[in-house]
Amino acid sequence: MTVTTTNNAGTGPAGAAGTWRLGDRTVNRLGFGTMRLPQDSGWRPRDREQAVAVLRRAVELGVNHLDTAAFYFSPSRSANELVNTALRGHYDELVIGTKVGPGRDPSGDWLPEARPEQLRGQVEENLRQLGRDHLDLVNLRIGAALERGTGSLADRFGVLAELREEGLIRHLGLSNVGPEHLAEAQAIAPVVCVQNQYALGNRADDALVDLCAEQGIAFVPFFAIQSGTTDERVTALAETHGVSPAQILLAWSLHRGPHVLAIPGTGDPAHLEENVAAAGIRLSAQDMATLNSIE
Ligand SMILES: NC(=O)c1ccc[n+]([C@@H]2O[C@H](COP(=O)([O-])OP(=O)(O)OC[C@H]3O[C@@H](n4cnc5c(N)ncnc54)[C@H](OP(=O)(O)O)[C@@H]3O)[C@@H](O)[C@H]2O)c1
Repeated sequence: MTVTTTNNAGTGPAGAAGTWRLGDRTVNRLGFGTMRLPQDSGWRPRDREQAVAVLRRAVELGVNHLDTAAFYFSPSRSANELVNTALRGHYDELVIGTKVGPGRDPSGDWLPEARPEQLRGQVEENLRQLGRDHLDLVNLRIGAALERGTGSLADRFGVLAELREEGLIRHLGLSNVGPEHLAEAQAIAPVVCVQNQYALGNRADDALVDLCAEQGIAFVPFFAIQSGTTDERVTALAETHGVSPAQILLAWSLHRGPHVLAIPGTGDPAHLEENVAAAGIRLSAQDMATLNSIE
């Protein structure tokens, strides 16, 4: 199947919220996360053809920034393999970010931390699964050892900086971090994005979002829908705009700052259409004041 792309940055429905310069590439601010593709929220494997169709439709709608990981898999589906199958003919037009650090072993059990010497293998695993000779963007996730202060971020980020020098990685980012991690990493190599959990109703990282804006770094919130609030003011505003509460949560993220890039995840074709359409929602100053008053 051929994908008809409308994904020149700033075009297509996903371009309705504008673009951001991510390293040396321009992306539409409304992107896509692949975590929901291998399985649904009940951990049942998704229909493979539907998952492939969702990815192709996302790109048709102008999505050109995707977030993935080798550890997004169910017993019979791998998010990276689905991306490879659906989109490998379009890699030149896409920015595909992946993540290394804490992951999962082949049985699916979570590994709380990756040692520095394991990171090259994780990068190579992503290269193999995606069928690429370089990765556009790799985020170093912070795991248990670093949270306890017993591991070194510099040792791990230094390995990724070397892989960047070798040309295996174009750009580096961080995930699940605080401002102190950002500063430590920036002393080693440029950081183009921070990917943390953040949503309306879950705003512990407000100061970090502002810090990223000041420094021209993309802030990429995950769980913008899943950990978003169900406050009745969101529902009421959704009715006023004739959209869904999930779309209001995404629109709020995109209105939080021009450097905020949305990566909503879904394996549901109707949800995909809704999520991309959220890029075109215009919230007024009054709308934002109402939403920002939600604790
Ligand atoms: N850095 C990290 O540590 C980290 C951690 C978690 C996630 N991530 C990344 O962040 C991305 C975003 O997180 P997420 O996938 O959990 O996305 P999300 O946007 O927070 O929520 C996804 C959940 O909401 C549902 N959903 C999606 N669109 C909807 C809509 N329009 N209306 C109602 N429900 C909707 C999905 O189910 P359906 O599939 O049924 O639509 C799924 O259950 C992930 O895909 C992944 O790439 C990163």
